[in-house]
Amino acid sequence: MKASSRLDKIPPYLFAELERKISEKRAAGIDVISLGIGDPDTPTYAPIVAAAQRAVADPGTHQYPSNRGRQDFREAVAAFYKRRFGVTLDPATEVMPAIGAKECIFNLNLAFLDPGDVALAADPGYPVYTGGPLMAGGEPVLMPLEPELGFAPDLKKLSAETLRRARLLFFNYPNNPTGAIAPDGLFEEVVELAAANDILAVHDNAYSETTYDGYVAPSFLATPGAKEVGVEVFSWSKGYNMTGWRCAAIVGNAEAIAHYWKLKSNIDSGLFEAVQLAGVAALDPAVDADVKAMNVIYARRRDLVCDALAQAGVTVTKPQGTIYIWAPIPGGFSSSAAYCEHVLEQAAVVISPGGAYGRSGEGFFRISLTTPDDRLLEAVERLRAL
Ligand SMILES: Cc1ncc(COP(=O)(O)O)c(C=O)c1O
Repeated sequence: MKASSRLDKIPPYLFAELERKISEKRAAGIDVISLGIGDPDTPTYAPIVAAAQRAVADPGTHQYPSNRGRQDFREAVAAFYKRRFGVTLDPATEVMPAIGAKECIFNLNLAFLDPGDVALAADPGYPVYTGGPLMAGGEPVLMPLEPELGFAPDLKKLSAETLRRARLLFFNYPNNPTGAIAPDGLFEEVVELAAANDILAVHDNAYSETTYDGYVAPSFLATPGAKEVGVEVFSWSKGYNMTGWRCAAIVGNAEAIAHYWKLKSNIDSGLFEAVQLAGVAALDPAVDADVKAMNVIYARRRDLVCDALAQAGVTVTKPQGTIYIWAPIPGGFSSSAAYCEHVLEQAAVVISPGGAYGRSGEGFFRISLTTPDDRLLEAVERLRAL
């Protein structure tokens, strides 16, 4: 059966491929340890689950939700942004739920790109920053994240022609896959660039609650002028162990959110209200302690992995945020994919090839910390033995 030519433009989704390989090996009785996908291994915090149980039992949540979102959801997000980031949001026009950040980022491409338009995409970056524009008929232009700039893109390198065609800019800190935190001055530069070139800046804020060593991640919207030119996509997935729930919100520029709303009302029917109520429960200050405790666990795993890699002669920077370790592949391999394939075949450990996140990710691999300590240690041991 022939699929649309649109589908030919994108490779199979990285983790869909990996899942297939893992199932094959497990079916053959091999003990595979997956450090591939960033999917928290511990449960959603108890108060969130309890609130969701109550919400599911309430028939008031069982009908089609409004795409605009429940008022209490929008108010809870606005209150959280105020207390957490010092950002003021109008719950009526500047907040809307999304069915996960992935859905939101993908659909923003459909809402903002005409054929031939450009979306500027952090490289390496979350794959949807490039797959989304391609599926929307636009063109992703990669912005290499420069290690010497703290993994910021050098915006001065973008050509006038690219900027003339650019409508969207995707960026993300704390950063997947590099683990970098927002470099000083970058958010201000993005505001300036977006304002000068009529670009919608989309800050993917998937990891702001997952930080270590006392680092507190800012919101892009706290940058002066950001709300005039940008939106932020906040996700509950990682910070609250809620990847399966599909809970996110787009916040910021009201006009951009209105366009996204118009698009979505023609595509999906909103976020299940019980999930919205779980999201509300998560943002209660009482849950901050659970987030902190989780971050203690990740920080321990981070240290464990970084120390083991250092002992094996691999130098890595300990990240202050996200659930990832970004490390250079050893010599002797033609690509990150070749190294990861070798690791899977010889050590039954799944790691992500940096090249899958963009050209600038080539030469690196990513380890996700979402595996219990003992398995994580065993995986690193297997890597070392290789
Ligand atoms: C940078 C980034 N953005 C977005 C997502 C997806 O978030 P969600 O689960 O809300 O769709 C991820 C998940 O790995 C991510 O790393």
